[in-house]
Amino acid sequence: MKIMISAGPTREAIDPVRFITNHSSGKMGYALADAAVAAGYDVILVSGPVNLTPPEGLAEFVPVISAADMASAVKSRFPDVDAFISCAAVADYRPIEIAAQKIHKQDGDMILRLERTEDILLSLGKMKQADQLLIGFAAETEDLRARALGKMERKNLDWIAANTVGVPGRGFQADTNAVTLYARSGEVYDFPLTDKRALAEQMLKTIFSKKK
Ligand code: PMT
Repeated sequence: MKIMISAGPTREAIDPVRFITNHSSGKMGYALADAAVAAGYDVILVSGPVNLTPPEGLAEFVPVISAADMASAVKSRFPDVDAFISCAAVADYRPIEIAAQKIHKQDGDMILRLERTEDILLSLGKMKQADQLLIGFAAETEDLRARALGKMERKNLDWIAANTVGVPGRGFQADTNAVTLYARSGEVYDFPLTDKRALAEQMLKTIFSKKK
C-alpha cells in the first residue's frame, strides 16, 4: 500500500527577497510520514520548506516551495497511490506579479494584489478513483466542526482531521496536537492532546483499519 503525505507551508514569492507564508513547521506531516513508514507502508513525502530531517525509509521525498510546485508534485503522483493525506498548509493566495528585482521602499502605503492558488484537494477530489482514499486537514480558529465537515463535502474527501490553530500547544509549531477525525461514513473519533508522533500513529490505525 502506497501513501502520499504533504507537509509544511508553501512560500509565495513577492520579489527575490520576500515571500508570503504561514506558521506550519511540518511537524504534523512529518510525524504522519514517520508513523506510516514504521507501519510498513510505502510513503511519499511532499514537503514545503521546513527545518526538519525527512524520516528514514521513505519511498520518495519531494521538496517543493510554492503552492504551484506542490500542486504539480502531488497531482502527478496521485494516480499511483492508494491514499493521500494533505497535511500541508498550502497558501490560498499568491502575488499576481512577482517582481524580478527587489522592491524598494517608497513613501506611503503599498498595495499587494493577490490571486487564488489552486485548491489541490479540490482537484484531487475530482480525480479520485473508487479505491483511493483522500484525507484532508481543517485548520480553524472558530466553527471547527462545521467548517471541517463543509471541507470534507466540498472537496470530496473520505476523512478530515479537524484541528484548532492559534492556541498554544496544538496546531502550528507545537510538538503536541488534538484532532477530531470525521469519516465520510459519519463516524467521529476524538484524539485528545498528545504528541504529534503518537497522534499520527493513532490516526493512521483508525483510517487504514477501516479502508473501504
Ligand atoms: O506543520 P505543523 O506546525 O505541525 O502544523 C500542523 C498543521 C496545523 C499545519 C496541520 O495539522 C494542518 O491543519 N494542516 C492543514 C492546514 C490547512 O491548510 O488547512 P485548511 O483548512 O486551510 O485547508 C484544508 C485542506 O485543504 C488541507 O488539507 C490543505 O492541505 C488543503 N489545501 C488547502 C489550500 C489549497 N490551496 N490546497 C489544498 O489542498
